[in-house]
Amino acid sequence: MTKTVLVSVAWPYANGPRHIGHVAGFGVPSDVFARFQRMRGANVLMVSGTDEHGTPLLVQADKEGISVRELADRYNRQIVNDLAGLGLSYDLFTRTTTRNHYSVVQELFRGLLANGYMLKKTMMGAVSPSTGRTLPDRYIEGTCPICGAPDARGDQCDTCGNQLDPIDLINPVSKIDGETPKFVETEHYLLDLPALAEALGKWLSTRENWRPNVLKFSLNLLEDLQPRAMSRDIDWGIPVPVPGWAENNAKKLYVWFDAVVGYLSASIEWAWRSGDPDAWKQWWLNPEAESYYFMGKDNITFHSQIWPAELLGYAGKGAKGGEVGKFGELQLPTEVVSSEFLTMSGSKFSSSKGVVIYVRDFLAEFGADPLRYFIAVAGPENNDTDFTWDEFVRRINNELANGWGNLVNRTVSMAYKNFGEIPDPAALDDADRVLLDLAEDTFDIVAEALEASRFKAGVSAIMHVVGEANAYIAAQEPWVLAKDPAQRERLGTVLWTALQVISDCNVMLTPYLPETAQKVHETLGRTGIWAAQPEIKEVKDEMPVELVGVGLPEEGHVYPVICGDYTAQQAKWERISVAPGSKLAKPKPLVQKLDPELGQTGPEWAPIAPAAG
Ligand code: MF3
Ligand code: ZN
Repeated sequence: MTKTVLVSVAWPYANGPRHIGHVAGFGVPSDVFARFQRMRGANVLMVSGTDEHGTPLLVQADKEGISVRELADRYNRQIVNDLAGLGLSYDLFTRTTTRNHYSVVQELFRGLLANGYMLKKTMMGAVSPSTGRTLPDRYIEGTCPICGAPDARGDQCDTCGNQLDPIDLINPVSKIDGETPKFVETEHYLLDLPALAEALGKWLSTRENWRPNVLKFSLNLLEDLQPRAMSRDIDWGIPVPVPGWAENNAKKLYVWFDAVVGYLSASIEWAWRSGDPDAWKQWWLNPEAESYYFMGKDNITFHSQIWPAELLGYAGKGAKGGEVGKFGELQLPTEVVSSEFLTMSGSKFSSSKGVVIYVRDFLAEFGADPLRYFIAVAGPENNDTDFTWDEFVRRINNELANGWGNLVNRTVSMAYKNFGEIPDPAALDDADRVLLDLAEDTFDIVAEALEASRFKAGVSAIMHVVGEANAYIAAQEPWVLAKDPAQRERLGTVLWTALQVISDCNVMLTPYLPETAQKVHETLGRTGIWAAQPEIKEVKDEMPVELVGVGLPEEGHVYPVICGDYTAQQAKWERISVAPGSKLAKPKPLVQKLDPELGQTGPEWAPIAPAAG
């Protein structure tokens, strides 16, 4: 049976270019997963876009002295380049400032309101005493009233994971200017999480295979659920679709209410752009469809609580009942796959502190696959993990260049030189069979790991075969066989065996290293597109919006999207028999070795700071 798989990837804020910490969390893992699922024959839809509302953008626009709209346009484009350059195979990577997104978000809000899950309440909001401007939750810091951590934010404490309100903080101060905020009365719409708690708990209790820390964290959140404000005192966001509110430019929907709806709105936009406006329903209304959400750990709450709560309330499935909204019964996440943080020499990546390695610089110097490999094999899958140039150089040189690149190069070179084509094998001996069986068995081992988003385990199993293949070559000494005409048959058998195993490893490495996989495909004398790559297209915001939206952006805005035709690729998750007689190409080096110096100094654009003292 063909699986139907939605790959939902966290939406990066359009407030700056992406650094490698970002793409380690949501980017590479989601793409390896999506590419693997496509190779297995699943019907995959992978969506995301830039998250363009909220304070993170306002603050940055102020810093750069441009309008927030200009800022969003600037970084939407930059991020599209970063992510496409990394080979992330989105079916659609769009943005949250489209007319379609506004309308879909407002429809979800209306459904929740109609079903009674949006409570209007007067609460205390923080304002800056000197400017009178509202202070966003995220920009207020203080001591956590629950665990006592000194650096809790107004929206959440990262130490204990609890959601907070700024007014709960002990000794709150504004991160913007250090002022003590003043609290004044303000009206908001709150998502009635307590009314959805039971439904949320039921859903969570049926979740299997989640990474244990993610499930534990999500279950913990259920313990003390409070209604949570889904509107904000801010002038940049999606209008609240309620008479009297929609016209009020000082109140908008909370950025997180809007961003998570992006998975749905992007699916709808994709369907329209693909010429079949109903096509999104296969992923959203079909109970057999699976959905996987990829993100960094600071996003878990919104994906395992807020988003499922929005979906349950919209379907009338909380304690207050209600109707199923216009879109129908939308499916909840199958799995929330979250990564930990990638740090840099012990510190959190931070553009403002200059602790940063930008994706675009990395790509310009090393290309996509070395970064993809490093993140897959040494990324923050289950623990916070440090990036060091030293380890990067070591991994790329020892594993990718000496391990994989060298295996392909020397084998294909010998076969090319001695036969010009893939040789005929004669009778296999034990060593040949052992290696061939290992490679074949590894397909299932890696598949099982990738089904469970265990990317490190997957790549390690493949690299184990690569290591065994190198050991096989060393033991068989084909260069010795080549000198003895009487051993020509045996030489052919050894090279054929090694080529078969190379082909197998290349199939399995494809989700991790799509660009390299395409090269190996060609080196083995094969043609056509093995692993498809994403493209960037300029599109117009001209999709007809059937829903009644209020305060939509103007029509006709042109923006870049990432999309691609991945069904055209040949890559399948199975052994391809290497065919004797196929012409071989003279191989070019597959993996560029790095200068070991780089491990000590870092590149010019991200130099390693000299040790203190
Ligand atoms: N923009 C958020 C961040 O960078 C992530 C949003 S993910 C989505 O932390 F769910 F809202 F889409
Ligand atoms: Zn705390």
